[in-house]
Amino acid sequence: MQQRPRRNRRTEAIRGMVRETRVHTDQLIYPLFLINDANAKEAINALPGQYRFGLNHLLKEIEESLNLGLSSFVLFPGVADELKDKTASYSYAEENFYLHAIRAVKERFPEACLMSDVAMDPYSADGHDGFVQDGKILNDETLPILNKMAIAQAQAGIDILGPSDMMDGRVASLRDALDGKGFEEVAIMSYTAKYASAFYGPFREALDSAPKAGDKKTYQMDPANRREALREAALDMDEGADYLMVKPALCYLDIISDLKANCDVPISAYNVSGEYAMLKAAAERGWINYEQAMPEMLTSIVRAGADIVLTYFAKEFAQMQKR
Ligand code: PBG
Repeated sequence: MQQRPRRNRRTEAIRGMVRETRVHTDQLIYPLFLINDANAKEAINALPGQYRFGLNHLLKEIEESLNLGLSSFVLFPGVADELKDKTASYSYAEENFYLHAIRAVKERFPEACLMSDVAMDPYSADGHDGFVQDGKILNDETLPILNKMAIAQAQAGIDILGPSDMMDGRVASLRDALDGKGFEEVAIMSYTAKYASAFYGPFREALDSAPKAGDKKTYQMDPANRREALREAALDMDEGADYLMVKPALCYLDIISDLKANCDVPISAYNVSGEYAMLKAAAERGWINYEQAMPEMLTSIVRAGADIVLTYFAKEFAQMQKR
C-alpha cells in the first residue's frame, strides 16, 4: 500500500499537529436571559443549566465568564405580560430594565462585548417579531419600531445589535437610524438566514414569548430552502450588515458553508435552545457522553465555516478548556 492515512492518526501528538479545526473560547457568544428582579435566579425547565438572571446574578455570571476568557454575551429580556402591547412600546421605554442592565454591565465590565436582540416578540402582546394587524405581520410598519428599540439599545451602550425579526429591509433601516443619531460605531449582526424552526421551543418557554396566534412562517425562512439564504445574505451585505448569522446551526451546516464561501464578512451561527436541550436530555439519561459530544457539536459548526458561535454551551466549554 502506498497510502496509509492512518499514519497521521497514530498518536495524540500527531493528531494534534494535523487537526484542521479548533474551537476557541474567544469566538463564542454566551446567551443570557434577564428578568426584572435583581436578586432572582430562576432555573429554566427546558434548558437545564441555564437561568433567568436578575441583575445581581447577571453581573456575577458575566464576571465568572470573563475570568474564563469568555467575553461576548447576547442578552434576552423576559418581560412581564402587563408590559406587553401591540407596538412593543416597553422596548424603548425610559424605565426598561433591559436597557438599565446593559448600562450596568458596560459600566462594571467595559471590556465585555454585549449584543442585543432586536425584534418585537419579547415585548409584543401578540408574541410576534413584527407589528400585527388583522392576523398579518406588517413589514414596513415594523421598521420604525425596530429603529426606536435599536437606538435605545445603542444609547444604553450596546456593542452589537442583533436584529432577529426577519423583516425585509431592516438592516438598512437600522443602519440609517443609527448613523443619523451618531452611532456609527455600533455594529449589526444580522440574523440573515433564520429559519422557521421547531428548535426554538425551549427559548420561547424561557421568555414566555411564543406567538399568541399563527406561526412565524411568513417571515422566517422555510427549512427546505438553501439558495434563498444566499439571496438574504446578498441583501444584508448590501444593506451594511457587519456580520451574517445562520440560525439554527446543526441542521443548517450547509447554509453556514454556503455563506462562508460567498460572503466576506464574519459568519456566525446560533446553536439554538432546542439543540442544547436535546444533548442535555440525552446526557441526563446516560444515553450520550456529554463531555465528548458537546465539543464535537461546536467543532462541526466551526468546521462548516462559522467564525463565531452563539451557544448555551459557552461557559461549560470555557471551563473544559481551562481544565
Ligand atoms: C426572537 C428570537 C428567538 C430566538 C432568538 N431570538 C425565537 C423566535 O424567533 O421565536 C431563538 C433562540 C433559541 O432558540 O435559542 N426574535
